Order: sequence, then structure tokens, then C-alpha cells
Amino acid sequence: MSRHLKALIGPSILNADLSKLYEESQKLLDNGADYLHLDVMDGHFVPNLTFGHPVVKCLRGKIKDAFFETHMMVSNPEQWIVPMADAGVNQYTFHIEPVNNVEDVCRKIKEHGMKVGVAIKPGTPVADVEKYINMADLVLIMTVEPGFGGQKFMENQMEKVKYLRENYPLLDIEVDGGVGPSTINCCANAGANWIVSGTAVIGAADQSATINFLRDAVNNAINKK
Ligand code: DX5
Ligand code: ZN
Repeated sequence: MSRHLKALIGPSILNADLSKLYEESQKLLDNGADYLHLDVMDGHFVPNLTFGHPVVKCLRGKIKDAFFETHMMVSNPEQWIVPMADAGVNQYTFHIEPVNNVEDVCRKIKEHGMKVGVAIKPGTPVADVEKYINMADLVLIMTVEPGFGGQKFMENQMEKVKYLRENYPLLDIEVDGGVGPSTINCCANAGANWIVSGTAVIGAADQSATINFLRDAVNNAINKK
């Protein structure tokens, strides 16, 4: 079963020097990042603001072939599907909490040629997202309250990851928030295979070694199963 699961490391550039977004992103890719996790916040769904599709589009103009995931921490994810597709996003991961018709949003994302990620905050039960798994390419289990980088990893969210892995052996499960070398084994053993890591990678003295460390931990866990 686990033969087909891939370990992928997606650094979050949220806590990088955003005045050098392109350079920081390219450096992460040169250091082995499998994809870029771009945190989009609207100041409404979460109490913080970052950037939107115009910035993503500029980044895509300079980085042609990397996989871009946008993590949409916004109140109306439906609104940004077309502009994000136009900006060259590969995967549109959105929170289900504020959305009335999750199926419609999933459908529209696919119609616009992007992969679908469905995300839940720490307080949202896993059953709420489970019903959309057949429409999604990935489930994101947040391991902090969305809004800010550099927060403490919430280990109690691993129950959700374990539940999903036990019931959906080939599902891509992503974790995001407080993930780094000291918490990766917890995530990997629970069954996560897409790993977002912000401050732990951005602030690392050796980004490449840190990314490899995270990927090795996930591969070890996959191969143990
Ligand atoms: C939090 C964001 C995360 C965060 C990750 O709202 O979704 O992607 O930036 O950063 P760290 O790894 O520092 O928690
Ligand atoms: Zn994120």
C-alpha cells in the first residue's frame, strides 16, 4: 500500500524575507524543496494579511516549473479560484470551515486545472473533512491555529492524521504548523506524507540538510508500514 505514497517537503515562505520572495523561493527549490507552500491570508478568516494572486503570478513569472500550492486562509475561497489558476497555481488548498458548498468549490478548482486540497483548523473534527475526500487530492490537517508562522506544534492533531491514514492508505495527507526536525517523527509516524515547514527550514543554517532530514523521516515511516 505505502509503496505509492510519496514524501514531499513544501517549505512555507511566510517567515522568509518577503522583500526577496523570488530569491528566497529559488533558494528553497535549489536546496531540494519538492513544492512551495504559499500562505494566502485575507485578514478575515485569519487575523493576518499576506499576499494574493498578483504576487503569486509575479513569482510564477520567474519560477516556471516548480509546484505551487496556495494555502487559502480566506473567507471566500470560491472568489480566488480563477485568478489563482491564471496566476499558475498547481494546487488550491482551502479551508472548508467558512464554505457552504464545498463540493462546488472542489469542482470549480478542478475545472480550472488545479489539484484540490481541503483543509481543517485544529478545532474542526476530522469527520467534517472526511466526507469530501473523494473530491479532493489532499487533506491538510493544521497543526497550529492558522494565521502565523512560528507557533508551537499541536501534537493532539495527530489523532486526525492517524485516523485518515488507517482508513485511506493512499491519501495524500499534509500537516502544517510548527513542523520541523523535532516534530517530524510524530507527523511521519502518524502517517503524514506532505510536510509544510516554515520557520524550521527558513531559519536553518543548512536548508538542504533540514529538508533532507524531514524527507528521510517520512520515507522511513512509509517504508516501515
Ligand atoms: C500558518 C501557516 C503555515 C505556517 C508554517 O497559518 O499556514 O504555513 O506559515 O510556519 P511554521 O512552520 O513556522 O509553523
Ligand atoms: Zn500554510
